[in-house]
Amino acid sequence: MTEPLNAIVNARLTGRDGLHSLTINNDRFTEITVQTSPVTAKANELDAGENLVTPAFIEPHIHLDAALTAGEPRWNQSGTLFEGIECWAERKALLSHEDVTNRATQTLKLFAAHGIQYVRTHVDVTDPSLTALKAMLDVREQTASFIDLQIVAFPQEGIWSFPNGRELMEEAIRLGADVVGGIPHFEFTRDYGADSVRWLMELAHKHDRLVDVHCDEIDDPESRFLEVLAAEALRLDYGSRVAASHTCAMGSYNDAYCSRLFRLLKKSNLRFLSMPTENLHLQGRFDSYPKRRGITRVPELLDAGLKVAFGQDSIRDPWYPMGNGNLLRTLDVGLHACHMLGMSRIERSLELITDNGAAALDLKEYGIAPGRPARCVVLQGQTPYEILLGQRPVLASVRDGKVLVQRAAAQPEADLILT
Ligand code: FE2
Repeated sequence: MTEPLNAIVNARLTGRDGLHSLTINNDRFTEITVQTSPVTAKANELDAGENLVTPAFIEPHIHLDAALTAGEPRWNQSGTLFEGIECWAERKALLSHEDVTNRATQTLKLFAAHGIQYVRTHVDVTDPSLTALKAMLDVREQTASFIDLQIVAFPQEGIWSFPNGRELMEEAIRLGADVVGGIPHFEFTRDYGADSVRWLMELAHKHDRLVDVHCDEIDDPESRFLEVLAAEALRLDYGSRVAASHTCAMGSYNDAYCSRLFRLLKKSNLRFLSMPTENLHLQGRFDSYPKRRGITRVPELLDAGLKVAFGQDSIRDPWYPMGNGNLLRTLDVGLHACHMLGMSRIERSLELITDNGAAALDLKEYGIAPGRPARCVVLQGQTPYEILLGQRPVLASVRDGKVLVQRAAAQPEADLILT
């Protein structure tokens, strides 16, 4: 990293007209002032170039232990979630501390280069040796200078359906996992699934941990574990600390059921995480035509006042062979898939990779405001519309008042034509 910055100048900010200077002192924003015109950046000032500056991006749902393993030991040819889990079970047997550490760190560097400074990773704890979890605890420490990492104890093969599933979850929490996970739709029976949700909520509550459950990641309209999770969150008054990931089945629920369900969701105040690229790829696999999108009801949840964020889920792993770390790509796909290209949706769309992710991760000090840590990104464009159209990576990422990432602005396409 470079010398500490004193200010970021010529910045556009969400919800404010004109250009602004963001003053920084002791790693924190101290003042936001309106500029009457563009200024020349002085020493130790970063020129935002009249581009939009937003809080640092958030990747709220990734599987770092599996990242960069696509094709090892074999490719997921069917493209289904369930063949992915089978491929992963084979690859998992080959894990070592160094293998996990190297791939996770490489992926986090890729994320940081794209302006991501906060990451929540699920780590498979259905492994008697907890190899990946122990490696990820080291990665959390080793990468703290450029990423805030939350670790989810994630029972990939089930809590009730895997030998010693409960003990492994408890051990993962004891070792230092930040978040309690679950996968009720993958448990052997509906009863196992519901019991696992009640149990994991009690575990989190007892140990004062956050919750993030892979919930109803299936096209089956009868998969209704979300209602169990929401009811438990409401009972324990824990909703703002509980995220429901995927909830793909909601895309297949009937409207009458959804009407009843939304009443509970609003009362419980759960957070929602949707992974559009991953679920467009994995879901709809048992449909002929028409094929479902397999994505939760994102605009309806937002309109109900609930927080929804987008995540990547995978970077080249047994479930998804693609992924480049650029959340603008995920956002673009998600807006298309969710019928969210109305201009009012586009104008607010960056919330899906910033503020709403912060709500899901229960971050206490997030955003551009005096007193908050000076963490932000300079984007290539003046408005969310321009940024989405361009799909260009961040110009700069500032972390605690220092420039963490900086790249040259992309040349306008017209300038590339040589004749
Ligand atoms: Fe996931």
